[in-house]
Amino acid sequence: MANYEFGFIGTGSMGGALARAAAKAVDPARIILSNRTPQKAEQLAERLGCAHGGNENAAKARFIMLGVKPQMMADMLAGIAPVLAARQDRFVLVSMAAGLTMAQIAAMAGGDYPVIRIMPNTPAEIGRGVILMDADERVTEGEIGDFLAALRAAGTFDRLPEKLIDAGSAISGCGPAFAYMFIEALADGGVACGLPRAKALSYAAEMLAGAAALAGRGEKHPGALKDAVCSPGGSTIAGVRALEEKAFRAAVMDAVIAAFEKTKELGR
Ligand SMILES: NC(=O)c1ccc[n+]([C@@H]2O[C@H](COP(=O)([O-])OP(=O)(O)OC[C@H]3O[C@@H](n4cnc5c(N)ncnc54)[C@H](OP(=O)(O)O)[C@@H]3O)[C@@H](O)[C@H]2O)c1
Repeated sequence: MANYEFGFIGTGSMGGALARAAAKAVDPARIILSNRTPQKAEQLAERLGCAHGGNENAAKARFIMLGVKPQMMADMLAGIAPVLAARQDRFVLVSMAAGLTMAQIAAMAGGDYPVIRIMPNTPAEIGRGVILMDADERVTEGEIGDFLAALRAAGTFDRLPEKLIDAGSAISGCGPAFAYMFIEALADGGVACGLPRAKALSYAAEMLAGAAALAGRGEKHPGALKDAVCSPGGSTIAGVRALEEKAFRAAVMDAVIAAFEKTKELGR
């Protein structure tokens, strides 16, 4: 049996958020954290009660969480490849890197290792992440079950074929940035109308959370929900017209497509 259930290599914003989630379901003593700037892993490890060490120690865990940027992945994996090659026990590599396929991860790690690919998003920090995932054929259903149970505090997981992960991530992974821009713009509009900034920001964020929850129930198409807010000759339809004049929906579609294209480029 591996010493550690989880080894996190790279404890930046996403690796750190997932480590915090894992520490809620897995005995923190069975989680080890490693980071290029070691103080970052040490501080988080102290807060969570986890172990910390170098990449070569984290590479001895059962689930090895690869939390570095896609551009850093090849070098980082080359560094731990000898440790992986020497292992006699079973382990799974877990990549969260935008744009890199499971086959690319295994090739960079230097073996036919089992790989799980996840695409999380920043609301995972508060347990509200949307986490897309797939696993290659070398990963067993039992391993997937253990992995999902360990990370359930990060949010909702959805398994989808790897070829669709980049498209899904252009919404779920990049979308939070688009949503924050929308919140900020709504608040700016409110301030322009005389609202104090703090109230404007809080109304915008709460409104978006409520509207999203209603749309997320899937009972009514977003167009029907929009129609229900627009009284004939009223204020809302005047705002809708202003958004249409500025090609709001085309701009949002273009943002998703641009993010998708860039993700594909990063994986090349
Ligand atoms: N942020 C998101 O919204 C998001 C969403 C989905 C997927 N992801 C994916 O998550 C991964 C991490 O992104 P992030 O936003 O968390 O980036 P980040 O905050 O920059 O974290 C990356 C961490 O990796 C560490 N690192 C770099 N090279 C290393 C090495 N050789 N060995 C050990 N640690 C190393 C860095 O250490 P230092 O402290 O020295 O810089 C840093 O703490 C990326 O692959 C990204 O595609 C991110």
